[in-house]
Amino acid sequence: MIEIKGCNDYALGQLERYWEEQPARIIPREGGRFDFFDSFEFFKILNSKEMKFPMVRLYQDGVPIDEGEYTFTRRYGGEEFPLTVDPNKVGVFISEGATTIIQSIEQHSSSVAGLCRVYEESLFCPVQANAFYTPCEKQSVAAHYDSSDVFVLQIDGSKDWRLWDFFEKRSNGKRPYNQQVIDDLTRKTPPKFTFRLNPGEILYLPRGLIHQAQTTENDSLHISMIAHPTTWKLSVSKAIEQIADSLEADLKFRSTVLVSGSIVGSKSKFSESSGVNEVVDKIVDSITWDQLKVSAVRRVIKSSFPSREGRLLDIIKNRTLSRDSFIQWREQQPFEIEARDSEVVIHLTDRALILPKVSFVAIQGLKNGEPVRVKSIRGLLTIDGKISLAQALVKNGICTVLDFRHEQV
Ligand SMILES: [Fe+2]
Repeated sequence: MIEIKGCNDYALGQLERYWEEQPARIIPREGGRFDFFDSFEFFKILNSKEMKFPMVRLYQDGVPIDEGEYTFTRRYGGEEFPLTVDPNKVGVFISEGATTIIQSIEQHSSSVAGLCRVYEESLFCPVQANAFYTPCEKQSVAAHYDSSDVFVLQIDGSKDWRLWDFFEKRSNGKRPYNQQVIDDLTRKTPPKFTFRLNPGEILYLPRGLIHQAQTTENDSLHISMIAHPTTWKLSVSKAIEQIADSLEADLKFRSTVLVSGSIVGSKSKFSESSGVNEVVDKIVDSITWDQLKVSAVRRVIKSSFPSREGRLLDIIKNRTLSRDSFIQWREQQPFEIEARDSEVVIHLTDRALILPKVSFVAIQGLKNGEPVRVKSIRGLLTIDGKISLAQALVKNGICTVLDFRHEQV
């Protein structure tokens, strides 16, 4: 296992040394604790939001607790909403030593959502964050392996980790999972690495590696940044799909695949190879590095959770947006800009915004993230054009409207 000391960049700086190959423990510079999240925030989310199973899951001594034990059916106006998590019942289980997991906590914390973006931009794959709270001297989940790469960020307390070998290197999650096999293996084989992960430290676990953790004398909160990898298989098949879509207009691609003899009397008119080379060559020629990169980026954008902070308020402010208003490109908004012949497309998680080509310079100027007064938007747009562009960007959640205090700057 690699040990990296004095690294304060969320373990991403030296990825190539260990990625997919071996676990790594990253120890920050002196006293380098995480300040983006804490146990108080964890319980605030759990207590103040009406969460649903399986967004919240409980485990006792490594075994899942039946969700019926901590959920109820909420009734509103004759409608039933089952699997609503009851924080009081969760509290009782926590006092008895249960581990609480909030899945996709980035949906409830903008600072965690921001961290997901940092990982996504480095890893070119979707990243989700799960938070684990485990009372002292307890095991959270049984020994297991994951089919995603995981960065464990130890927020509060500490955990004693045990790591074994790979069960399946670069696991794709397709192999049937058998807990009994893992239990037998970890009982018979001593762990390869044992160590304590302290606050501020990060553990990188490559997918397919067997691991297990136990809290120490203190309660523990950690966040797992779960990277769903963009493999070559996924990337190439996605790229072929996108290329095939873009070649739809080509008559050759719209013709039928014929096998000799499939049409009565065709005999030698069609052969198996007829047209194959031309079609395949065209696709192969189109699979470029840029195309693969675009596929990977679009996969991230499609699965990302964009920050919703202030979105609805922006819609209200947008009504009175003027030439003197200030707007700013939203941080944490996953996007990709595609320049086409006559238009610019901004790809977002749930939609694509198509704008006239003349907006391109303005968009380039805005996306660096600095606040911009609407009338000072770059490019050749008229004032009315700048206001319309700003309103479209705000309406679609790409930009935010800064409040009155900023307008006085
Ligand atoms: Fe795990």
